Parts: sequence; structure tokens; C-alpha cells
Amino acid sequence: MEVGFVISDSNTREFRFLVRRDARLDNNMFVITDSGVFGRVVDIDGMNNLLSDSDILVYYDEILKYMVPSRDNYNIARVKVYGNLKSSSVDRVNTPPYPGESVRVLEWNELRGLLGLSDSDDNIVIGKVLPYNQDIHIDPYRLIEKHFGVLAMSGAGKSNLISVLLQELTERDIKIPVVVFDIHNEYYNFSQVYPRKFTSIPSHTIKLSRTYLNSDIIGLLADDLTEVQSYILDDILSKLDNPSIDQLIDYIKHMVHESKEGQHRRSLQALLRRLQSIKSLDVFGDIGLEDKIALLRNGKSLVIDFSDAHNDRILTTKASVLLKELFERRKRGEIPPVLVIIEEAHLLASSETNRESRMSQMILTRIAREGRKFGICLGIVSQRPYYLNQTIMAQLNVQIFLRIVNPYDIDYVRSIGEQLTDDDMASIPNLLPGEAIVSGLLKYPLFVKFRLADQRLRSNYQNLRDMVKNYWSNRDQRYISNIDL
Ligand SMILES: Nc1ncnc2c1ncn2[C@@H]1O[C@H](COP(=O)(O)OP(=O)(O)OP(=O)(O)O)[C@@H](O)[C@H]1O
Ligand SMILES: [Mg+2]
Repeated sequence: MEVGFVISDSNTREFRFLVRRDARLDNNMFVITDSGVFGRVVDIDGMNNLLSDSDILVYYDEILKYMVPSRDNYNIARVKVYGNLKSSSVDRVNTPPYPGESVRVLEWNELRGLLGLSDSDDNIVIGKVLPYNQDIHIDPYRLIEKHFGVLAMSGAGKSNLISVLLQELTERDIKIPVVVFDIHNEYYNFSQVYPRKFTSIPSHTIKLSRTYLNSDIIGLLADDLTEVQSYILDDILSKLDNPSIDQLIDYIKHMVHESKEGQHRRSLQALLRRLQSIKSLDVFGDIGLEDKIALLRNGKSLVIDFSDAHNDRILTTKASVLLKELFERRKRGEIPPVLVIIEEAHLLASSETNRESRMSQMILTRIAREGRKFGICLGIVSQRPYYLNQTIMAQLNVQIFLRIVNPYDIDYVRSIGEQLTDDDMASIPNLLPGEAIVSGLLKYPLFVKFRLADQRLRSNYQNLRDMVKNYWSNRDQRYISNIDL
């Protein structure tokens, strides 16, 4: 279907064409010229020469009288060039399309081939390609293996997308178990709908074994552990044979008792206080982590509900240990290849070098760098891309951007979205819920509308209106009217 012809000023990276009046052309369609140069329409400019010169706009009343919109208005489309389609191969574009060459829209069937979309049985369908409104069948292995990031502001549809992905992986029986770091308890429903395939694990039931009783972990849990206290702790631990936290505390109590008044005694007492307060957090225990990870061996996916973690320190400590165990066990082949989804990733993969997220940053960086080799793949989900660790971000080969409006976040996204144009960036704040630009998955970036997850799997996301309604519908309305003003 011919939609226009190339006009002047084209080059090998982009060209413009005059859009025929009767043509149906939408932004982000793929078009091709007579000579085979193809690309994506990145924007369409509405033009009118009579109304373009600011000097004569003062006479607009007069101009409008003579203007015939069907004659004087016209549209110019701008196209980002991707290549030259020669029979079935795609070559680099060495000469720009000539002005006057006709332009047509690439049919969906042609485009599917160009994008590398295929119809294999284990493909998953997560939404539709815009503006073609055609199902996007993707190879799940291709998505997962590359590590992917889902970045967007709150309420843009990140968790919904993850739910759609998990549902597809489960229903197509893709044998890659998933471990979801579920910070706000949004994925609990999976264990209800697919009890044989998902288990929901409250994070307080994950206990760290005594092998993790060391100054690094204690330092994470008690941020004010001084160097001297760390040193004393390591020294004591080297003398004891794999103690429990109770045994360690008893031992230090005994040391305090035996020691003379002075600096060393004060350090021991301070260390003791820290350990006692850590003990009250109830994070150490002899059972917990091992048997949970063992579930993966039979292909069961784990949703770790961190919404019960009392503070970010417990969250980051347990998450770090869990990640470390997953990585080590996967390296030893004790668990199958696994997909790890990190929700609210700015908490665990932050760009800040604060002490509490240092350990999770380190292990996540390692997984991001080396995980693919061992079959441990990452899905990083965050509403604050700006605060994400850059080394980790650089390893995410597939980037999914839903709506983002914060200028800092947009700037950051610009720096990592290699395949995207300035026009693409400019459209990110205008995306609707569930709409996204997907970069790095297929040969060219795509605009996609993800489908909604099944009702029974959706998170209990509530906007303020719902929250207010829910709160008051459960309470006696007369309460307000009875207040004596
Ligand atoms: N693909 C979609 N199509 C239509 N509506 C959607 C889509 N995805 C999300 N929404 C709407 O947006 C709401 C919020 O979605 P979701 O919980 O996935 O956002 P989020 O990005 O995870 O937000 P937060 O950062 O607050 O967790 C959903 O309840 C739904 O109403
Ligand atoms: Mg969410």
C-alpha cells in the first residue's frame, strides 16, 4: 500500500516523505521505499505553508479565508532508517533513498520476518505490537537469557507485565523456575492459582544459617558496627567452631565478665549490645533457606514475600544471601536454570554506595555479569531508573520502558536505550498504562501494548480512590457524622 514519496534532505540514517492524503499511516509503522530502504516512522509533522511564516501570521484572519485545508494542509513523516531490504537479506544503507521514490507500509507478514518473530509452539504471547495490533509472539528463552529490565513510573504496568510473563511461562510449561523478590506482596496469587508450580514464602521464614554469622552480615544488620568491633568479632569467630548467635552472645558475655575496665571492655560491651539487638530481629536460624531453595530442584517457582521485612537492612541482607546461594548452587548445577525477578530493584541494586545495599549490589553485579554463563537470568523492575546501579543496568540487554515522566529518569533512560531515537524518548511520558517501548529484544525497537494479566493473578493494586472506598466501606459511616464539631 503506497503511502507517499520521499522528499528532499534524506540521508542514510533517516528520510522524510510526503504522506498521501488518502493514506492510512500511523506513527511507528514500518515503511519501505522503492529502492528497498526501510525503517520506522518516528513522527509525523502536520504542515501548512500558509501558516508557517511568523511574519504573515498576523494576517491569519485573511489567510484563513483563502485557505482550503484539503489543499493546503499536508503531513510529512520522518523515518528512522534500519536497512536496505534486498530480496531476503538486510544490507547496510550506503545511499539514501532518492527524493521522489515511492514509499509503502510494510505488511505485517513481511515485518514479522524482519523483526525475527516466529511462530514456534513454545513462544509466549505477552501483548500486541503497536500500531499493527498484532500479537507479539516471542521466544521466552531469548527474552530471559539476555537479562531484562522493566522501567517505569508507579502505576505504569510493570507488575502486570511480570504477571503476564509468569503466567505465560507457567502455562506454556517453560521449565525455568522463577524466584520473585516480591517487595510489596503483589504475586501471592500465583501460589493460589498454580499451587503445584508456585510457593509463596514469607521472608520471615527464611533464616540465615550460622555460616552467615560473620562481620560482613553483622555489619549489614547493624550499620554502626565500628572497625574495632568488626575486628574483635572476626577474632572471636575464628576461635569458635561455627557458633550459633546464642553461643556467640554467651561467649562475649563471658569475655566482658572476665575483662578489666577499659577500652577493650567497652568495645566488647558495645559489640554485645549490637548482637543482642540483631538477635531480636530473629534472622538467624538453622532451618529456612536451604529447604526453600531445594524446592527449585523440582521446578517449583518461589515468590519471596518481603513485605513482612521490618526494615531495609533485613530485606537487603536476606536478599543478598538468597542471591548468593542461588548463584553458587546454580554454578554447581544443583538447581535448574532460573529466572530471578527483582521488584523495586532500586532498593537492592541502588547506585548509591551506602553500606546496607553494598552486598546486594555486589552479588547482583556478579549475577548480571556472569549469570548468563551459568543460566541464572535477571529481570530487574524499578520505578526509579536513575537510582539503579549502572554496571547492573549495562548488562540488561532487553529494556522495556513503560511510561516515565521524571526528567532525571528519562535522562538516564536516554543514556541506556541504545536503540532509541530522540523521538522515542519524547514519547515515553505519553505512553498509556501497559504501553511500552521494547528495545534489544528483537532486531528493532518496538512499541507494544501488553495484555492485562488474568484477573485472578493480578496484584491488588489500588489507586487512592479504591483505597478510600475500601477503607470506609468496611467501617461504620456514622462515625464521621457523630463527631462533635
Ligand atoms: N497492559 C495493561 N493494560 C491496561 N491497563 C493496565 C495494563 N498494565 C497495567 N494497567 C493498569 O495499571 C494499574 C497498575 O499496574 P501495575 O500494578 O502493573 O503498575 P506498576 O508499574 O507495577 O506500579 P507500582 O510501581 O506502583 O508497583 C493496573 O491495576 C491496571 O489497572
Ligand atoms: Mg508494581
